[in-house]
Amino acid sequence: MKKLYIKTFGCQMNVYDSARMRDALLALGYQETEEPDEADILLINTCHIREKASEKLYSEIGRLAAFKTARQARGQETLIIVAGCVVQADGSELLHRAPAVDIAVGPQNYHLLPELITKRLRLKSRQIVADFPAESKFDFLPETKAGSASCFLAIQEGCDNFCSYCVVPYTRGCEYSRPAADILAEARQLVRTGAKEIMLLGQNVNAWHGEGAADLGELIRRLCDIEGLQRLRYTTSYPSKMTDSIISVHALEKVMPYIHLPIQAGSNAILKAMNRQYTVAEYEDIVARFREVRPDMAISSDFIVGFPGETDADFEQTLALVERVKYASSFSFKFSARPGTPASLMKNQIPEKVKTERLMRLQELLMCQQRAFNDQTVGKELDVLLIEEGKKKGQLLGYTPYLQGTHVSSDKARLGDIVRVKITGSSATSLSGEVI
Ligand code: SAH
Ligand code: SF4
Ligand code: F3S
Repeated sequence: MKKLYIKTFGCQMNVYDSARMRDALLALGYQETEEPDEADILLINTCHIREKASEKLYSEIGRLAAFKTARQARGQETLIIVAGCVVQADGSELLHRAPAVDIAVGPQNYHLLPELITKRLRLKSRQIVADFPAESKFDFLPETKAGSASCFLAIQEGCDNFCSYCVVPYTRGCEYSRPAADILAEARQLVRTGAKEIMLLGQNVNAWHGEGAADLGELIRRLCDIEGLQRLRYTTSYPSKMTDSIISVHALEKVMPYIHLPIQAGSNAILKAMNRQYTVAEYEDIVARFREVRPDMAISSDFIVGFPGETDADFEQTLALVERVKYASSFSFKFSARPGTPASLMKNQIPEKVKTERLMRLQELLMCQQRAFNDQTVGKELDVLLIEEGKKKGQLLGYTPYLQGTHVSSDKARLGDIVRVKITGSSATSLSGEVI
């Protein structure tokens, strides 16, 4: 049996895409392996969001090319396939830069993989597709199966917001929402094959406007009717697209009290330069509305520090905003100038040293808040969905409704169970507790 090795970089959408590519290749008779030296196909799914992410690809290709050369010396045909956002961004430049690559396939073309592999093997010519085709790849990919009790389901892709620093509108294309019927069918299939929790994915998930439901709020209500599905989440939401219809679904038992709502910066001048379509006050109003429906709502965000022109005073406003909101978790990054984006050409680029200092200060504050959020759950009883084996023997890792990673030890609990846990310990990054 031929073997397939997959390495995934980037966001949850890439994790989902890798799972769908795996489904497509398993249907051709491949079997997945964790060992690159025994793989007939080495697949790398790439991310272009920041410079570091993009550069990782080229070092990864170098690593995998060594396996390919060694295998070929033993007479074993081996293909390197590169998928994802770097393919869309770099196009045929990627094939020039990386001669070991056999196939490069952009994010909207994964359904063409079987055909591209056949062509590469028969015709021997290197293959690249990085189009935005009229047909949707979702209509051609095989049915998916739950890989664990918590699954991703892409409902919306692409972005029309054009934040001035971001490559996603160029790499993923314009906004597309899948029809409600397809999403419901995929969710049912995931639940039939073991999913207890579904995380709906989209670059602007709350702007979903597919056929068959009025908005994301109605779609979530319909998904909640699926028997066996116990938890629903969705990410990433764009602040100005948030509506009361969506906020109100958090009153439902199956919808988790957690929202990832990236603000990026706490200064209106910087938000404007970023082309984000909201003010700090509007953002805080949305947070307050979530907390009206669920006072215990966990709020999470992304931040960028050192955006061109960001003054010390602007940055202080980000810290002040964080102090007011009180985040349960977060991701924060130094601004990275990406080719082709307006922000990369802006004057007043911030020196690396200043970016590093700001990032450290912001992360210190955010870590403190995350720790405080975790600490206040100690002594409480929370439901934990167990999804992975823990590092220690007999230990399992699961997630609370607030998406806190929680280690539990129990001989009775199994992966896929939702167990009631008394939280006994906490750190900045995780909790521990006992099944009761
Ligand atoms: N659609 C989501 C974000 C997708 S990208 C949203 O609008 O919130 C994930 C995160 O990467 C962004 O929220 C942003 O914080 C960060 N990011 C994107 N482009 C970046 C850049 N050029 N430099 C640094 N961080 C960036
Ligand atoms: Fe990028 Fe902005 Fe779109 Fe998010 S909303 S994907 S940051 S352009
Ligand atoms: Fe990266 Fe593409 Fe996701 S650029 S963050 S993999 S949409």
